[in-house]
Amino acid sequence: MSEKILQYDKPSLQGTLTIPGDKSVSHRSVMFGAIATGKTTVEGFLLGEDCLSTIDCFRKLGVKIDVEGTNVSIDSPGIEGWQEPTEVLYTGNSGTTTRLMLGILAGSNVHSVMTGDASIGKRPMRRVIDPLRQMGAHITGRADGQYTPLAIQGTALQAIDYHMPVASAQVKSAILLAGLRAKGTTIVRENEVSRDHTERMLRQFGAQVDEVSGVISLKGGQTLTGTHVSVPGDISSAAFFLVAGAICENSKVTLENVGVNPTRDGIIEVLQSMGAAITVLPNEDNQSEPTATITIETSALKGTTIEGDIIPRLIDEIPILALLATQANGKTIIKDAEELKVKETDRITAVVDELKKLGATIEATEDGMIIEGPTPLRSASIKTYGDHRIGMMGAVAALIADGAVTLDDAECIAVSYPSFFEHIEEVK
Ligand code: S3P
Repeated sequence: MSEKILQYDKPSLQGTLTIPGDKSVSHRSVMFGAIATGKTTVEGFLLGEDCLSTIDCFRKLGVKIDVEGTNVSIDSPGIEGWQEPTEVLYTGNSGTTTRLMLGILAGSNVHSVMTGDASIGKRPMRRVIDPLRQMGAHITGRADGQYTPLAIQGTALQAIDYHMPVASAQVKSAILLAGLRAKGTTIVRENEVSRDHTERMLRQFGAQVDEVSGVISLKGGQTLTGTHVSVPGDISSAAFFLVAGAICENSKVTLENVGVNPTRDGIIEVLQSMGAAITVLPNEDNQSEPTATITIETSALKGTTIEGDIIPRLIDEIPILALLATQANGKTIIKDAEELKVKETDRITAVVDELKKLGATIEATEDGMIIEGPTPLRSASIKTYGDHRIGMMGAVAALIADGAVTLDDAECIAVSYPSFFEHIEEVK
């Protein structure tokens, strides 16, 4: 854990950045490549700590994975050929690794033990393990499987018809990945659409997945074949520069290679509704995940309400959107976002407490927060709670604050955006 003092003296931001690979897609490229038989090549892989944890876990299962820059190649005998790991699978800070791997390992031929860091040890796993147990999975763990460490004895699974109680792509993906190995057709019903990278990538690897009005179905027994994956830039990383470009004086920032999957692009809609000067130029390629070049300029912003089915489309962007709202005229209300409480930290408490230290007028509610703007931000010492997105929120606040902002732990930012501070230097 290393403290970082940020004194930027209110720069105007200018320039172009290429946004690094999407975390969700990078994880899945390795997971699917490991389940598949044959060779998978990945370009634009995110070298964030979370995704490196995923690579490490699959190496322990005997999958050959080479990393050269942001190119990754995976050579797998397929899930049937995995070795039983002799070591604990360590998932670090990564909820996606932990939850998706539960679904994958449940139907494998191996026994495994999985654990992560202190934050992972507090995050709820029953939301995944309950439906997996209904499919026949043998998983045990602390508090009857609610918390890591978890032990998974791979076994034969049966398909399930599951109505999702929360909008969660991690839960949906774990069930679908278990469903690949199950007898019968697995059905997942979503009230609110969560990110669909798993469905898209399953098709890329040769599986058939159907989706009709929030009902996703997948026939068990399908095998995956290695392929090439091009990872789009992560809109959740771009979000920090979209907001920085909108709130720093006299700024104009262009972000290239931003993934604009419609299940992830809620932040663009919010920026537009707040009056931001933003242009989105879609790239004309035929990738499974659409990308765009996005330009944002300093904008006069007005408060808004963020609620309902847009929430899963921007859940990871709420910390930085809250900072944006401190610079907008009027009230911003964020609701229906209680899922924030079970992220890397309780992001309702963390965002409200840390933005208050910076001088924001912000109150926590049961399922979100209310922000009254605009307020100038002052010098403060920010606690990141080891949460990368709280760290980056603090760093963007430092760009507009009167005086220095200190982060108690800046290293956690490498979980999803290792080049974040270099990118700030490039545009400031
Ligand atoms: C993710 C899904 C989301 C998101 C997380 C990544 C994924 O979590 O917050 O950062 O890759 O599937 P939930 O599925 O828990 O909402």
